[in-house]
Amino acid sequence: MCGIVGYVGPRQSQPILLAGLSRLEYRGYDSAGIAVIDGGGDLGMRKRAGKLKILRDDLTAHPLSDGTTGIGHTRWATHGGPTDANAHPHLADDDKLAVIHNGIIENFSELKSELVAEGYTFRSETDTEVAAVLLGREYREAGGNLVEAFRMVVARLEGAFTLLAMHRDHPGLVVGARRNSPLVIGLGDGENFLASDVAAFVEHTRRALAIGQDEIVAITPEGVEVTDFSGDEVDVEPFEVMWDAAAADKGGWSSFMAKEVSEEPDAVANTVRGRVKDGAVAIPELDGLDGLFADITRIIVIACGTAAYAGVVGKYALEQWARVPVDVELAHEFRYRDPVIGPDTLVVSISQSGETMDTLMAVKYAREAGAKTLSICNTQGATIPRESDAIVYTHAGPEVAVASTKAFVAQITALYLLALHIGRVRDALTAEQAADNVRELEAVPAKIQQVLDREQSRIEQFAHWMADTRSVLFLGRHVGYPIALEGALKLKELAYIHAEGFAAGELKHGPIALIEPGQPVFVIVPSPRESAELHKKVVSNIQEIRARGARVIVIAEEGDAAVLPFADEVLRIPLAGPLFEPLLAVVPLHIFAMGLATAKGLDVDQPRNLAKSVTVE
Ligand code: F6R
Repeated sequence: MCGIVGYVGPRQSQPILLAGLSRLEYRGYDSAGIAVIDGGGDLGMRKRAGKLKILRDDLTAHPLSDGTTGIGHTRWATHGGPTDANAHPHLADDDKLAVIHNGIIENFSELKSELVAEGYTFRSETDTEVAAVLLGREYREAGGNLVEAFRMVVARLEGAFTLLAMHRDHPGLVVGARRNSPLVIGLGDGENFLASDVAAFVEHTRRALAIGQDEIVAITPEGVEVTDFSGDEVDVEPFEVMWDAAAADKGGWSSFMAKEVSEEPDAVANTVRGRVKDGAVAIPELDGLDGLFADITRIIVIACGTAAYAGVVGKYALEQWARVPVDVELAHEFRYRDPVIGPDTLVVSISQSGETMDTLMAVKYAREAGAKTLSICNTQGATIPRESDAIVYTHAGPEVAVASTKAFVAQITALYLLALHIGRVRDALTAEQAADNVRELEAVPAKIQQVLDREQSRIEQFAHWMADTRSVLFLGRHVGYPIALEGALKLKELAYIHAEGFAAGELKHGPIALIEPGQPVFVIVPSPRESAELHKKVVSNIQEIRARGARVIVIAEEGDAAVLPFADEVLRIPLAGPLFEPLLAVVPLHIFAMGLATAKGLDVDQPRNLAKSVTVE
């Protein structure tokens, strides 16, 4: 939800800003812009509606003179449509000051009225321009001290924001502030960076600093100064980015999504790596934190979208292995319904980005209500883990495609490790039972690889044949149910097709009315060896829809012959225990959604209307 990058140093800033923006484009892609203080000390700015390529082409055709201080922005529109005028940067103080912003300034109309009454004029419909004009006013008030002016501005703003600004009078200085929106510092040699995400600067440096809530940062080529909103210096937490620029490159793949689906085996393997010792789960981040789990009477998992579906899969494992009751809640629903929580509740949040505002607000709410909080997150230095009592990182690597794929399997993996850990801490599992499950988990990456090797091209082929399909249904039971929901969400997001996921048992309670001749239905079938009872039930469900003319595509274990008479297509997954099937069954669904969207000529990395990191409520 808006990507931000800032640079100060000895190099020309434009190529650095544009490269940074292309790595942040997943955050928003309806307009983009940059501002640069050029060699002559003038401030130049260019911004364009549309994808970054439009800005890049414009800059090639009509170059902006370059300089060594600059800021850049890629937008996901909130206030004001995606037009040139509403794109960032916004200028103020007689066009000497440039400002970019991520978030929503909730009291912007009140501030705007105040500024209009003082005679200020506006060129856009955005809340950001209000912050820019206000900053221009306070800059004069502060005698030309940009950091001081920031302090005065942030004291007036309500809502969520990351703001970056630079002023023509101060080449070599970029100032930023954050509240409830991300901002990280990249530390170079004689140069420094600010960005929404380390991806923007990782090709230049892997040394980073995470800025806390309500802090202001000033970067110059020589150094970095971080203060809180009252002006007191604060210590910032350094960290080393765990992946390099190549990990966030498309490589030879046709899309980031194709690359990321191919990385699903690694996402699981890397999330397990370093967390198993002598066959037992040993999560270094949870060392000394057994107290978090000892006295809890319930767990609430909070997340949104795909991460919430990972949470539903995790619920089955947490209840089975840790024997603690688990509820899974959409973060935005949880936060606003006065939930009953307290010190006996462990709230586990799941977020790839670690910045989803709905999830962040729910975590804060839970903390304030006295609950214990644990974050499962894929992004170092992100806000949600910083707001939590404990963190278990997923190690899926950078996920660039807007729709989540490899992070989903990594999230399930992290939840399973956590469930085994809590199960042991609470004596709900014997060492032997835990070790058996660890072995199963360790075998998953190779099994996902088999699904990719054996089924990918066949699935892509029939996705191609189904390019004109207008509606697809997905059915599953037990852990297959959240996988059905994930299959449907991915198809909606990527291929813009009506898709719905149902618990297969629910079919006869209503959704079966949707079945008409030719209706494609994916069914995730549990193992006949491991879950004989459930398997029988799902096969009956298949017969029911088949009898009504559905075109049935089955995802079933190798050797399951019972499904053959009723299936139009059978996609095979390797044998696995019931709780490990979702990690395999989801792979064909990711491939299918990606294949169908590709067949329709759609951009699978940047689906319409979406942004990867949803930092507004
Ligand atoms: C779906 C998707 C979204 C995210 C959701 C939460 O493909 O990507 O539904 O899962 O917006 O995002 P994070 O995990 O960053 O909190």
